[in-house]
Amino acid sequence: RQKIILDCDPGHDDAIALLLAARHPALELLAVTTVAGNQSVEKTSTNALKVCSLARVLDVPVARGMQRPLLRPARFASDIHGESGLDGPEMPVPAFPLAAQHAVDLLIELLLQSNGDIVLIPTGPLTNIAAAIRREPAIVPKIQAISLMGGAISVGNVTASAEFNIWADPEAAAIVFACGRPITMVPLEVTHQALATEDIMQRLRAMQRPVPTFVADLLHYFADSYRQVFGFSAPPLHDPCAVAAVIEPGIILTREMHVAIETQGEWTVGRTVCDIYGKTGLPANACVGYALQVERFWDLLLDTLQCYA
Ligand code: BDR
Ligand code: CA
Repeated sequence: RQKIILDCDPGHDDAIALLLAARHPALELLAVTTVAGNQSVEKTSTNALKVCSLARVLDVPVARGMQRPLLRPARFASDIHGESGLDGPEMPVPAFPLAAQHAVDLLIELLLQSNGDIVLIPTGPLTNIAAAIRREPAIVPKIQAISLMGGAISVGNVTASAEFNIWADPEAAAIVFACGRPITMVPLEVTHQALATEDIMQRLRAMQRPVPTFVADLLHYFADSYRQVFGFSAPPLHDPCAVAAVIEPGIILTREMHVAIETQGEWTVGRTVCDIYGKTGLPANACVGYALQVERFWDLLLDTLQCYA
């Protein structure tokens, strides 16, 4: 099984990414680390605990991480995920506490102890990963690969230029993209193909089980947000795509290229500048996704959700 750490900011789609990461038979989820992003790190951490509790994922440590970006104030996505960060369904009281360790310490410890066989899956701002790299550079060669949800080849979703996770902490993203380890970037062009249509909702409800029903309830709220904010007819499941890319690499078609992170621009802060035609002459630092095998993705996700008791 592939060892992974999920670094997330739940978040509706993060919650579903967590459920996929915790139960897919090809993966061994070593830890969940949380970061400020969709909401404060207090809220995203509590949400991670609640999701794990609801799904009876009780053997994976959940560690709270950075409460604000490296250099900038924290800015949350309440318009999409609500005040709690996970508005919509009823949530249980957490059945277990947070890990005693800070997420950055846990990331460093797990990576240093490893044989270089851990893939990091960040689905929020990259603050924890960048902080860990800065604090203990010896972790870098221990990172097998990074499969991250973030960025866009063309237009953004939080500004005209930028996608939320990269925009929220562009300095952290710049550190991660410069780390030299293999990076799969799963951008909006891919995740906007993973639309939870009415058909998907019906497949979830037809399972008549608590976890798939919880996911359908989450998606009901998420669908309203996406309708109101973006005029989408169905909500995109961004973060599970980054997990799916680890389970089945061919599920996302990618191309290698250099990606620069804009940290200065007047209109473009947080933009992932994807050098498709090699104009910069800089060596490739990421495999950038551009298409998703949509049916494969849904089968993989729904088959896994069905495994929950
Ligand atoms: C990303 O931003 C968050 O709102 C989602 O959880 C996802 O990680 C999409 O831009
Ligand atoms: Ca997220």
